[in-house]
Amino acid sequence: MTATARAFEGASTRRQRSLSTYEGWKDFAERPPRARPEHLARDQVEALDPEARARYDADRRVWHANILLRTRQVHGVHTQLADILDSNLQDSDRVKSAAALDAPPALGKSTVVNTFGRDFHRQRIAEIGEQLDADEDILHLPVCHITVPGRLTIKGLHMMILGFYAHPATAGILHRSMAGRDLARAAADCIERHDTRLVIIDDLHFLSMRTRDGVEVANQLKWLSNEYSATFLFAGVALRERGLVGEGAVGREAAMAQTFRRWTVFSLDPYSLRTKHTREEWCSLLWHIEQALVLAEGCDGMLVDMSRYLFARTTGNIGSLMDLIRRGASRAIRTGQESIDRTLLDDIRIDEGAETERGELEARLDKQEAARRARRRAKEAPKQQPHAGKKSAA
Ligand SMILES: Nc1ncnc2c1ncn2[C@@H]1O[C@H](COP(=O)(O)OP(=O)(O)OP(=O)(O)O)[C@@H](O)[C@H]1O
Ligand SMILES: [Mg+2]
Repeated sequence: MTATARAFEGASTRRQRSLSTYEGWKDFAERPPRARPEHLARDQVEALDPEARARYDADRRVWHANILLRTRQVHGVHTQLADILDSNLQDSDRVKSAAALDAPPALGKSTVVNTFGRDFHRQRIAEIGEQLDADEDILHLPVCHITVPGRLTIKGLHMMILGFYAHPATAGILHRSMAGRDLARAAADCIERHDTRLVIIDDLHFLSMRTRDGVEVANQLKWLSNEYSATFLFAGVALRERGLVGEGAVGREAAMAQTFRRWTVFSLDPYSLRTKHTREEWCSLLWHIEQALVLAEGCDGMLVDMSRYLFARTTGNIGSLMDLIRRGASRAIRTGQESIDRTLLDDIRIDEGAETERGELEARLDKQEAARRARRRAKEAPKQQPHAGKKSAA
């Protein structure tokens, strides 16, 4: 890592600004790509003086914490989102379509929407610049990002948008005297003033749609996305089940159905070992992680050879997998083992969801593996007979 990158890194980890503020988002989106720490052999690592060693280990930990894999699913969703944004950018008078990413916990929803937002931010800044006026008074903020905290009310939604832009209404008591509609207007003005084209609302499941507020928020979201030239991108868990997306609603919920009619819904799936293709995909994921790790004794096949074990530990959930590998890599660095194996991972506990299913899944996979071996033996046996016959004839 260069000195500048290190200084930047230090400053940003100290500040840890929330992505729901424009400063935090800009930090995230404009941060230069991290340089991969050099791969050193064990004797080279051991030859480092204590200060250099501490720095090298810290760099590796930061690197491992930020591994980003452009998996097939990430790539697929990014491509679809780019299509939606492109067409929304071109026809400014048409009602904008919105997109939603609906998937179970820890499958990478935030990762997908944030990396998409970051790419889009960079692309727009490159096209139009950092400022929007000749006096350099108005910042160009192509993306607005909000993470819904707990139950959201209409006022809360607008306050969060205003908070992202550090609007004065959020600083004092001004907002208390402002009507919801005025706050909405102010939020929409911010979106327009800063030429924001993409509004990301993460953890939308915290929005309760069964309450009066929920319906109103839905209508407000529609109003915002219709009125202004921004594309809304929502992410959350079980949005369909919660009535946030889908059709066929009646009565009071019909308004919601209409609201979400224009939403394109994407999903992310956990990995599986069910077919040859999905097994290959799982192994490919492990291979890419393996290649990204910087461990002195790391070698090809270190993770791929444990593919079934890793699946049993993580139930094919990328969040659980990355946690397990990161913790394993940290321990391998700390203890000087410098590689990851089953004994090391056996001792690391991860999230409860994965741990609960671990025993059952391990037993099932062991059984499947034994059955597979038996089938293979049975298949190979008749093939060997003519060969054996020939041998004995000779
Ligand atoms: N493509 C990826 N490359 C590397 N790591 C990933 C990727 N996708 C997800 N992860 C890891 O999985 C973990 C969970 O990801 P993320 O927070 O994006 O999931 P989520 O679906 O938003 O979860 P939640 O439902 O809790 O909001 C994170 O630690 C992240 O680093
Ligand atoms: Mg998330």
